[in-house]
Amino acid sequence: MGSNYGSLLIVLLLLLGYVLVQAQSTDESTGKIPDNVNMFVSGNFSGTRQATVRSCDCGWRNTESTDLKIVGGYETGVNEFPAMAALIQLSTGSLFCGATIIADRYLLTAAHCVYNRYASTLGVLVGDHNITSGTDTAYSALYYVNAYAIHPNYSTSTYNNDIAIIQTTSQMTFSTYVAPICLPFYYSTYDFSGQQVIILGWGQLEFSGPTSDTLQMAALDVITNTYCNQLLSNTVTTSEMCTYTSGKDSCQSDSGGPLLWTNSLNSRMYLVGIISHGIGCALDSPGINTRVTSFLNWIVSTTTDASYCAL
Ligand SMILES: *[C@@H]1O[C@H](CO)[C@@H](O)[C@H](O)[C@H]1NC(C)=O
Ligand SMILES: *[C@@H]1O[C@H](CO)[C@@H](O)[C@H](O)[C@H]1NC(C)=O
Ligand SMILES: *[C@@H]1O[C@H](CO)[C@@H](O)[C@H](O)[C@H]1NC(C)=O
Repeated sequence: MGSNYGSLLIVLLLLLGYVLVQAQSTDESTGKIPDNVNMFVSGNFSGTRQATVRSCDCGWRNTESTDLKIVGGYETGVNEFPAMAALIQLSTGSLFCGATIIADRYLLTAAHCVYNRYASTLGVLVGDHNITSGTDTAYSALYYVNAYAIHPNYSTSTYNNDIAIIQTTSQMTFSTYVAPICLPFYYSTYDFSGQQVIILGWGQLEFSGPTSDTLQMAALDVITNTYCNQLLSNTVTTSEMCTYTSGKDSCQSDSGGPLLWTNSLNSRMYLVGIISHGIGCALDSPGINTRVTSFLNWIVSTTTDASYCAL
């Protein structure tokens, strides 16, 4: 008797397994992601894709700045770029790097920004514009850092794999003015050369030139890695991306801050680079940035409790 029930159970389990496999393959056969559908990609991007369709949004830009031109760059509008954040040394309240919001507890920055620092000494300031006060907009908020993950292959000597993920202690409150950037999941094969990107920063550190209280932006051109390697005697890796705009004067930016590519099809901004080394927009020398598309799998598999919006 017992063995009969056992067999029945096995048959039922096999049947159930078959039904589940069928259901999954049906999902995958419709797998092409429909246009104009907002999706969350959660869990493990490199493994079975666990995308669930929800309403989500990312990468929009608020009212543009007018004409406050500064050397080589412009002051942004207040809260124009909702994903922009500043890394703050809590003991002094000073900004030392830029960062970009990618999910409600996560930001991306450069590895060298957080390397050798204790997470508990760090904060991220979001929704801010004039960083001298830290509370100058209705959306300014300081979040504490719970932990960070530096890419395991980050090199302190070459700056290769200069990327880190920051986890805040609590969920960030999102609004029109504080919101995540889009990650370039659907553009992972693009090299972005010939495209323009926006870089953002307060320029308080690491770059020469006048510093600024308020967030500054500049538009730069992405060049091919081949051309960049000609300029920099073959020191650039495939997981880096160079920006170079001949004739641009020096302008401010901060390490760890974003290179934003605007998709002309949907007007969304995607984080395609992280300011790493070399000068963001100096005369006659390309800036070297971390190429975000090379790290999408690492980002998604390191932030397993996050949801990403794939547009
Ligand atoms: C993600 O999926 C890959 C391939 O299936 C697997 O090797 C890896 O362990 C997974 N990572 C996580 C964090 O689940
Ligand atoms: C930033 O705020 C400080 C303190 O309120 C103020 O003195 C300064 O002029 C502001 N900077 C700009 C560029 O508005
Ligand atoms: C780090 O580099 C090793 C050797 O090239 C490679 O096998 C590994 O996948 C890399 N780690 C990540 C997270 O990319």
